[in-house]
Formats: sequence, structure tokens, C-alpha cells
Amino acid sequence: MAAQNRKIVDVLDGKTVSPPPLWLMRQAGRYLPEYRATRAAAGSFLDLCYSPELATEVTLQPIRRYGFDAAILFSDILVIPDALKRNVRFEEGHGPRLDPIDVDGILALEGEGVANHLQPVIEAVGRIRAALPGETALLGFCGAPWTVATYMIAGHGTPDQAPARLFAYREPEAFARLLDILADLSADYLVAQIDAGADAVQIFDSWAGVLGEKEFADYAVRPVRRIIDSVKSRRPQARIIAFAKGAGLLLKSYRQDTRADAIGLDWSVPLSFAADLQKEGPVQGNLDPMRVVAGGKALDDGIDAILQVLGNGPLIFNLGHGITPQADPDNVTRLVARVRGESR
Ligand code: CP3
Repeated sequence: MAAQNRKIVDVLDGKTVSPPPLWLMRQAGRYLPEYRATRAAAGSFLDLCYSPELATEVTLQPIRRYGFDAAILFSDILVIPDALKRNVRFEEGHGPRLDPIDVDGILALEGEGVANHLQPVIEAVGRIRAALPGETALLGFCGAPWTVATYMIAGHGTPDQAPARLFAYREPEAFARLLDILADLSADYLVAQIDAGADAVQIFDSWAGVLGEKEFADYAVRPVRRIIDSVKSRRPQARIIAFAKGAGLLLKSYRQDTRADAIGLDWSVPLSFAADLQKEGPVQGNLDPMRVVAGGKALDDGIDAILQVLGNGPLIFNLGHGITPQADPDNVTRLVARVRGESR
């Protein structure tokens, strides 16, 4: 589908758009009362992810309310392990749970049936695209192999991913195999999202920041590069944002090494370093989500600092990580107006 004046697509192509287009990671979520209502009606979180009708509804909710420049498909990075039969559950107040995988489990992984399992998500992409205003971009996504693997190995979220780091040192061959399997399935999944109408896709490496230098190259860069090479060899027009949260100085060559079109920046990335990275290509970020909870001057000052340093180059305005459930929806209204220059 021809992109119709979708500003985020222009930025991903290296253009400077002023004011910068914006969307927020986790923009459909528990801070919105309309999300909580749909979520309650859906039953479980995964039921919501696999209902094309309800996933479409929650994807559109933040677009109706705020008119963001992009919608992001409502789903989760853990639908891939779920499709791999790792028994993914989301328990209230506990975050995700999976059956922890071991070497034998990795050797037994079976990619067959994955595309079929994910078909409702792809159907949602088509429905969302059909319902969106022409100028609103649609973003698809997947988790990066490292981040998805951390949940598969521990069987739940952990503060520092010690189980996956340890597993990777003890069982490097099995671990490499797991990353390759996840990369190849993720590439197929992203191609299907693009074919169904996604204008661009984001790869979330939320746990990149716990890796040492060599492990970052092997477990964060290499598998993301494998996904991007695979997607671009099949869909040369694909646009890809890579977000390696917490990667710090290792972001210096991340865009070049992965071949991403743009890189996402978390809020710990100094704006001076962000400006250097932006000279090489488009950047996305990086407001601290806690500024959206705080509101007022903390919110305004954070926005203004980003716009001042990064606003004259290719920028997609975003948070440095997902918006949290405590955020006041009115603070998001204030954020959108300020980024668009309607209240400065
Ligand atoms: O950005 C969006 O609005 C699109 C939807 C989206 C969700 N998860 C919905 C969700 C996206 C892009 C994700 C990505 C995701 N999921 C990541 C990478 C980004 C990040 O935040 O680091 C990760 C690590 C996950 C795994 C995951 N899913 C966790 C750890 C949790 C529990 C923590 C939490 O926030 O509840 C989830 C659940 C989840 N995914 C929710 C939502 C809206 C909340 C579940 C609910 O509504 O009950």
C-alpha cells in the first residue's frame, strides 16, 4: 500500500519533520479506562491478543483519544513462545509465566504451526489498517531473540536476566540455536505483518542492557541483524526500528551493525550522545515515562529538552520505555499538545 503522507515513514526514510511525529510505547494499555474495560470483557490477556476484533479495538483507542501519528498493533512479544507451545500465561499481578526451557526443550522446538497460531494477529493488522485514518502509520513489532529467550529460559520476568546469562555461558550451542530459531520465526512473522499492512516494524530488545560487550554483539546485534537481513531480502521496502534498551555506549554502532532504519533510545541515553547518533540516522525516544506520571513542569521540561536537542533532525518523539499504568491520561493530552507546539 502506498504510504499516504505518513510522517513516521518520512522520518524513517531520513527526513526531518517538524514538529516531529509521535507515538508512545505501550500506548494501548492499563492507564486508559477504555482499555481496562475491553480487557475485562476479553477474559485473559492472551484472549485479547488473539481476538482480531478486540485487538483492533484496543489498538484504535489511543488513536481516537490522542490522534498519535502511529498506531502500534496490540499484541505481545511472548506470542512467539506461546506459538512454540511454551504454555505462556499472564497471571494477575505476576507478569508473564512460561514453562522454562532446557537444552532438550530447545532441541525439540518445532516451527511448524507457528504461522497458523499467529494468524489472528495478522488478521488484526489488516483490520486495523482498514480502520485507521490514511495519515496514521501502522507499526507492527516483535521481541528481539535475546529478550524473548530471557523469558523462555527463566519462565518468568527477572530483574537482571541472570538465568539466561548463565544458560548462555553453560550451553552456548543450544543457546545459539534458540536465538536462530527465534530470529527466523520472528522474520517470517514481521514479513506477514508488513504484507497485511504494517508501514514499519519495531524490534524490542528490552533486556539488551544486561549484556557485556561480547554478549551484546553475539546475542543482541547478531540475531537482530539476522531478522533484518531476512526481512529486507524478502521485502526491500520494509522499514525497521530497533530498540535496545539500556545498551548505553554500545548503541554507537548498533544501527550500522543491525542495518536498522532507525534506533530507539531509552531515557538514560544522554541527549548529547543521542545527537551524535542522529547524525548517522533517525532516532526515536526518549522521554522518561515517570515524567508522564509526574506531569506539570517535569513533563514540559523533559519534552522541551528533547525537542531542543533532537528536533532539528530526523526524530520520532516517544518515551524511553513503555507508558506505565499510573500515568494520568490528561498528562498524555498535555504531552501531545506540547510536542506539536500547541502549548509552548
Ligand atoms: O505498545 C503497545 O501499546 C502495543 C502492545 C504491547 C504490549 N506488550 C501489550 C501488553 C507491546 C509492544 C508489548 C511488548 C512487550 N511485552 C515487551 C517489550 C517492550 C517492553 O515493555 O519492554 C515485553 C518485555 C513484553 C512482555 C510482557 N508483556 C511483560 C513483562 C508483561 C507484564 C508486565 C506488564 O506490563 O503488565 C506483559 C503484559 C502486557 N503486554 C500488558 C500489555 C498492555 C499488560 C497486561 C494486561 O493488560 O493485563
